[in-house]
Amino acid sequence: ANITFIDQSGEARTVEAAAGSSVMEAAIRNDIPGIDADCGGACSCATCHVYVAEDWLEKVGPPQPMEEDMLDFAFDVRANSRLSCQIRVTPELDGLTVTTPERQG
Ligand code: FES
Repeated sequence: ANITFIDQSGEARTVEAAAGSSVMEAAIRNDIPGIDADCGGACSCATCHVYVAEDWLEKVGPPQPMEEDMLDFAFDVRANSRLSCQIRVTPELDGLTVTTPERQG
């Protein structure tokens, strides 16, 4: 699936993500700026925070309770905030667009 990351300056980078991996892993593998992922995907650092594009919110779904708790530690959390390590890539998410926050943590 193709996933597009947009940074705070509006620059878009599209990467190929394998189904079954996480959006965070796709970002790290492709050196996407603005995603730190300090905990390596264990849902315990909140430095893989992204904003999911409005049109994709339904397909991506809401955060799980553990993710929701961890999101409290993220910077500038909004209604469409997710931790990208908790978004599982599926073929249905082809074209997913997320925006990276101004900073992590
Ligand atoms: Fe740490 Fe996602 S990588 S919470």
